[in-house]
Amino acid sequence: MPSPFLTPGTRAQPDNIALLHLRRDQSIPTILRTQDDECQGYKEGKVTTTRFGVFPHSTMLDQPWGSQIAASKVDTGSRGRRPANPAKRKADELDESGTTTGVDDDTPVQKAVAAASGFLHMMYPTPEAWTLSLPHRTQVVYSPDYSYILHRLRVRAGGTIIEAGAGSGSFTHASVRAVFNGYPEEQQKKRKLGKVCSYEFHEQRAGRIREEISQHGLDGLVEVTHRDVCKDGFLLGDSETGSSPNATAVFLDLPAPWLALKHLVRKPASGGPSPLDPSSTVYICTFSPCLEQVEKTVRVMRQLSWLNIEMVEVQDHRIDVKRERVGLETEGIRGATVFPTTVEEAADKLWAEEERAKILRSGSNKNLSPEETAALKEAEIAITESMKPKTSTPMYDLGRLVHRSEPELKSHTSYLVFAILPRDWTEEDEQKCREQWPPSKLDALQDKGKSKKQLKRESKSQRMAESIAKKTAEKAAEADAEADAETS
Ligand SMILES: C[S@@+](CC[C@H](N)C(=O)[O-])C[C@H]1O[C@@H](n2cnc3c(N)ncnc32)[C@H](O)[C@@H]1O
Repeated sequence: MPSPFLTPGTRAQPDNIALLHLRRDQSIPTILRTQDDECQGYKEGKVTTTRFGVFPHSTMLDQPWGSQIAASKVDTGSRGRRPANPAKRKADELDESGTTTGVDDDTPVQKAVAAASGFLHMMYPTPEAWTLSLPHRTQVVYSPDYSYILHRLRVRAGGTIIEAGAGSGSFTHASVRAVFNGYPEEQQKKRKLGKVCSYEFHEQRAGRIREEISQHGLDGLVEVTHRDVCKDGFLLGDSETGSSPNATAVFLDLPAPWLALKHLVRKPASGGPSPLDPSSTVYICTFSPCLEQVEKTVRVMRQLSWLNIEMVEVQDHRIDVKRERVGLETEGIRGATVFPTTVEEAADKLWAEEERAKILRSGSNKNLSPEETAALKEAEIAITESMKPKTSTPMYDLGRLVHRSEPELKSHTSYLVFAILPRDWTEEDEQKCREQWPPSKLDALQDKGKSKKQLKRESKSQRMAESIAKKTAEKAAEADAEADAETS
């Protein structure tokens, strides 16, 4: 099944995960199915109940992603449900009457009837949206951090990344999108598929993330291993005899990342294969909330020959920029502060309101004299006038431009330590390289891309340099000869 995280298509298909978007900061993840997988027993099949109504999945399947879905009338009481355990019900009914009637699991679900109000939007999942709606089992890495980390780790389509610990799978989903360049079942020759090798030592969490990976159509792209990486390292399969992931990028979100670094070397002490790609530079990032952790990590990185070690903290501030409108003419505009902007404006309004109050206090305005009616009208006009814009400047351009940072943007600040491990370079590699690229081949290659004019200019300057050198040598020889003649 193609993953809706990577290739969602245009319409929601059965068994796809969808995010039911209720508000800007609230989405409910659900697996779309006509039939109820939890045996809730609704006649409409599988339903999702929200604060904005009940939504049978039959109303969402095969709809374009992003559709607005209306709530349905669903009897959520016991009368509206099929028995929770059809097998038991069948047995009970057989006992009583010797026959089975009514709904069973093969019965088509009842067509949903739209409710008077309530709706949501059905969105396909993205790693960013998943991060905000996933069931939290641990602290998670949020999108401001992981977008920066994946960029600095140079994670790209077709690459392999090691991640430990998997935790709630927030970083896992972002990294699988970054390495994705095709599904294993459609693998073509010569193309290396992107892969995430994820490690988690908490058994239940490892099991849960495996389930999610499978439900999200990411099998074969993410390999989850239940392992203590500090003790047993990063090989796939067996921790001693397993195969190397050949990773070019490593992300460690662990309480003690420095303890895992001994396994991330070119030649492990165990004598087994290295989990790193021998033909490439490896980029690492560790994610730690305390400076003490950073210090220990950096110390061990230095001992293990990691280079370009650098610590970064991502401080994300979304800034809300808007125009602050003050003035009586802004009455009725959302967010505006309705105060007079000048003394005249305040006096006008006061006068008009006093006039109107005076007339209203003097009795019912049904029996007003013609003069009083005229005065009331005048006061009404004055109030309306005082509220009209006094300038020809459009409303959007009035007011002071102000900005506030958005306090609710989620991010979990930690210190990010980045480093690089250069590829292993032996004497043999050097020799092989020299044989493949002798200096003559390099010179020819250098000349290859040059224009005729450039080649001419270069040979002219070379000739000039040679003639200068020749003349200098001749002069020196003459001077030597003169000196010899003088001495003799
Ligand atoms: C903060 S969570 C990781 C959150 C994850 N990066 C995410 O974005 O959802 C840290 C995880 O590391 C796991 N862990 C801690 N020490 C470990 C070890 N030595 N080997 C493997 N996993 C470990 C913990 O069980 C925990 O689930």
